[in-house]
Amino acid sequence: MKVLATRRYPGPAFEELGEVEVAPLAARGDVEALIVANEPVDAALFPSLRLVANFGVGYDRIGVEELRRRGVAVTNTPGVLDAATADLTWALILAARRRVVEGDQRVRAGEWTGSWADGFLAEELTGSTLGIVGLGRIGQAVARRAAGFDLRVLYTQRRRSEAGLAEYRELDELLAASDVLTIHAPLTPETRGLIDSRRLRLLRDGACLVNTARGEIVDEEALVAELVAGRIRAGLDVFAHEPQVPEPLLSLPNVVLTPHLGSGTRQTRESMTRIVVDNVLAMERGDELLTPVGA
Ligand code: 8YV
Repeated sequence: MKVLATRRYPGPAFEELGEVEVAPLAARGDVEALIVANEPVDAALFPSLRLVANFGVGYDRIGVEELRRRGVAVTNTPGVLDAATADLTWALILAARRRVVEGDQRVRAGEWTGSWADGFLAEELTGSTLGIVGLGRIGQAVARRAAGFDLRVLYTQRRRSEAGLAEYRELDELLAASDVLTIHAPLTPETRGLIDSRRLRLLRDGACLVNTARGEIVDEEALVAELVAGRIRAGLDVFAHEPQVPEPLLSLPNVVLTPHLGSGTRQTRESMTRIVVDNVLAMERGDELLTPVGA
């Protein structure tokens, strides 16, 4: 099968594909399988296309509906990145809540000149309330990690969870009750802009919003306004127009910024490549795909 990949994906499994062309997504009559990282695919450019194997669990930018109409299968990489993404979520929760990055910057700037016993204070994490938007695999991994911090854990989701990890609340109630709000929903037409300016204002003063899901789930302009006002804190791994980060955020002390690192451990990224490659090989052999989406 003629395979085109948008980059060399990490790990030894990639070599099992044999000859793979690494190139941008420009028109090609011969390509049968594409390996992408949530890049939009214009199906009309690839008349022989049979499979789009996405390196990632979220596939919101690919254009799955149109591909399926044209008989092109799409796969993703569920399951293997839950732990890595939950770990990064906790890194952001702790960093934002306890002002870790701000502290680091002040040390480096030579501003630590005496005891800060009476200043540079943060809000306690232990004993506070964590609100989880989306209690799927990643949200559950985040909830399980909360146990050590003695948190009250609340969640909202379209379907009630049976997992017993958190108490259900309607979204507005969840926002009002949370000291830390973390987002773990997929980006869909229903979740785009879900946390709009009205809902952002429901967050308590000093609350912390963490997003390792998709930037577009939050109204980014409204979020920037709340952060500029200094009313809330945030830990953001995702943005509406990556790799662009809204300019005002770059100089704010109350937000921690990371460049979409959720799944970014060597082990996890190699496991993602393994699934991508197994899907391509399955298609080549005529076997059932491992992780088809929307099938
Ligand atoms: C990216 C992700 O795919 O899985 C997802 O939905 O957003 C990430 O794992 C990965 O960072 C490659 O861009």
